[in-house]
Amino acid sequence: MIATVTLNPAVDKTYTCTRFLPGQVNRMDSVRNLAGGKGVNVAKVLRQYEYPVRTLGLLGGYSGELIRDHVTDIGAECRFTPVAGETRCSVNILSQDGYVTELLEPGPEITEEEIRCFLADYEKGITDCELVILSGSVPGSVSPGIYRDLIHRAAKREKKVLLDTSGIFLRESIGAKPFMIKPNIKELEFLTDRKIQGLRETAEAAVSVNEKGIAHVLVSMGAKGILYVKEGKILRAKAPGVHALNTVGCGDSVVAAFAMAYQKGMDDEEMLKFCVGISAANAATLENGVIPMTLAGELMEKAEVESIRL
Ligand SMILES: Nc1ncnc2c1ncn2[C@@H]1O[C@H](COP(=O)(O)OP(=O)(O)OP(=O)(O)O)[C@@H](O)[C@H]1O
Ligand SMILES: [Mg+2]
Repeated sequence: MIATVTLNPAVDKTYTCTRFLPGQVNRMDSVRNLAGGKGVNVAKVLRQYEYPVRTLGLLGGYSGELIRDHVTDIGAECRFTPVAGETRCSVNILSQDGYVTELLEPGPEITEEEIRCFLADYEKGITDCELVILSGSVPGSVSPGIYRDLIHRAAKREKKVLLDTSGIFLRESIGAKPFMIKPNIKELEFLTDRKIQGLRETAEAAVSVNEKGIAHVLVSMGAKGILYVKEGKILRAKAPGVHALNTVGCGDSVVAAFAMAYQKGMDDEEMLKFCVGISAANAATLENGVIPMTLAGELMEKAEVESIRL
């Protein structure tokens, strides 16, 4: 069983339009409402590959119900903690001129009592899980240090934590030494407090994080693929070329792929090919967290992994 934790889930609203112009009336050609939030997307990918998943986190209101229904429909165990506030919507506007505009709400107010209930649900919910995946942002009213607490609680129970978050949430929790982190370049820059240009600087920054006791550092570099550091060894997997339709959420598919690879006992090279294959296939679809599995399999075969020395 794999546990995913989504403290700030969202209904993903995807609009398509010809052009999106700020400050003007914009008519949309289509709209779709889908259950989202990073941990929910990870769960979607894991369920497509038929891994048992338990979803934890905070859910409230009508948006919360939509997410609860979806999570149950895909066959994941839904163990979200109910909250009084309304789960947020995240808006993604895809315009035909190639621009992608995202509007991200901060999330509902969460009370201290709700957090206490969540912590109890979390401790209970991870008991029979080997891996715990913490993904995404944290609602504004919750301490940015909460992931540090969740990592410590998981470590006490000998669970391995995969952490995919950004900014202060990542920086605050790194000292708790999650088993794996998956920053993109911007997140790695913030974490290491440096500007990063090119593969060499990316590798140097990732090695510095690995040296701080993070066993697996996977840096996702968009269409440039993944740079991976483990025990000081650096590998780079090139992203297979695809016609990308929507790259939002590709990072979530990398995290899901890493979790599956870990549970299957894949070696590093196989794991990286699996990660870039699944995430490139995800980039080729409009919907976050939906993997065309045949395409993913073909892309994995084509993927190339090389060793890098500093
Ligand atoms: N255009 C693309 N073509 C092929 N593969 C891609 C493309 N964009 C992303 N990927 C794959 O997806 C992985 C994750 O993408 P990215 O680095 O954009 O993650 P991210 O910034 O964390 O995204 P998000 O947080 O929205 O999930 C990349 O490492 C790469 O393997
Ligand atoms: Mg990401």
